[in-house]
Amino acid sequence: EDAWVVMKTARAPSNIAVIKYWGKRDEKLILPINSSISVTLDPEHLSATTTVAASPAFERDRLWLNGKEVSVEGERYRNCLREMRARATDVVIESSGKVITKEVWSTLHIHIASENNFPTAAGLASSAAGFACLVYSLAQLMNVKEKYEGELTAIARLGSGSACRSLYGGFVKWNMGQEADGKDSIATQLAEQSHWEDLVIIIAVVSSRQKETSSTSGMQESVKTSPLLKYRAEEMVPKRIGQMEKAIKSMDFAEFARITCADSNQFHATCLDTSPPIFYLNDSSRRLIGLVERWNRHAGEPQVAYTFDAGPNAVMFAKNKEVAVQLLKRLLYQFPPSAEADLSRYVLGDQSVLKS
Ligand code: PMV
Repeated sequence: EDAWVVMKTARAPSNIAVIKYWGKRDEKLILPINSSISVTLDPEHLSATTTVAASPAFERDRLWLNGKEVSVEGERYRNCLREMRARATDVVIESSGKVITKEVWSTLHIHIASENNFPTAAGLASSAAGFACLVYSLAQLMNVKEKYEGELTAIARLGSGSACRSLYGGFVKWNMGQEADGKDSIATQLAEQSHWEDLVIIIAVVSSRQKETSSTSGMQESVKTSPLLKYRAEEMVPKRIGQMEKAIKSMDFAEFARITCADSNQFHATCLDTSPPIFYLNDSSRRLIGLVERWNRHAGEPQVAYTFDAGPNAVMFAKNKEVAVQLLKRLLYQFPPSAEADLSRYVLGDQSVLKS
């Protein structure tokens, strides 16, 4: 009689910030010191796929990441699970007609299995895809309906700040919010992906090694020690958020590229301004920056934008498909693939570019 199991599977893409989130004002609730803006990536290339299951036969919550069991006792998982359980509503099991009520949900244990189709913790926002996917799949499993728009993004935020932005596609803003409880620290969509179809995203995986300084501890150190971070969060980012929203709305690539590169460079400057300094970029990252900067200067106006998260891998935005093809050629010339590597090192937002 108790031998039933219900499960759901969902997929959520990663996102890459063009105005970075760096620094928390509340560590527990994961409330940021500045708003941020990101582009959600194509799930074909960079996403998490998560299956969640519930059964009275499960004795405790359990979690498998990329096939390996890991602890689910961390505060971040616990917070997401608690908030989702609190919002569970009736679910009818089709085969038996049995109803899982809110009360039953509060007693059920959950098994979670999640897989990434890209390197974990290499600065490609794997936690963003993972927690967005966890919250979304639990919402499907437990029939959770948002009471206000963005409620689920606030729960994903409890898992990983950047995860709140992965619940929407296209161009997304995470409002830092003002409330102490974080209710208004939510993500909203600025524009659908189809709004700016010319834009091509190219990711150069320079290294799939795990980063040495996690974003969590890196941020803590920066908040404690970097005077530049305070200036960035209070003076620079508020200005840039407005400019970036405008650039996205009007598809102004020159402006989009200018702000994206400047913000990435300033974020890495705050890392360098942290004591002891944090280095996320490596020699290849810096060579890539040089290549794009020289190209843009010679062209007279920006053709390509680059941005780097907490790792050496580059995410680049090409103005259009023709530029993307040019960019790939230049990358392959400057960084010849090694014998064991191949073109798949370059993950594309648009497969047709690779074919041409
Ligand atoms: O959400 P976290 O803790 O993985 O932090 C992400 C921080 C950056 O990726 C560097 C910037 C961002 O806005 O995504």
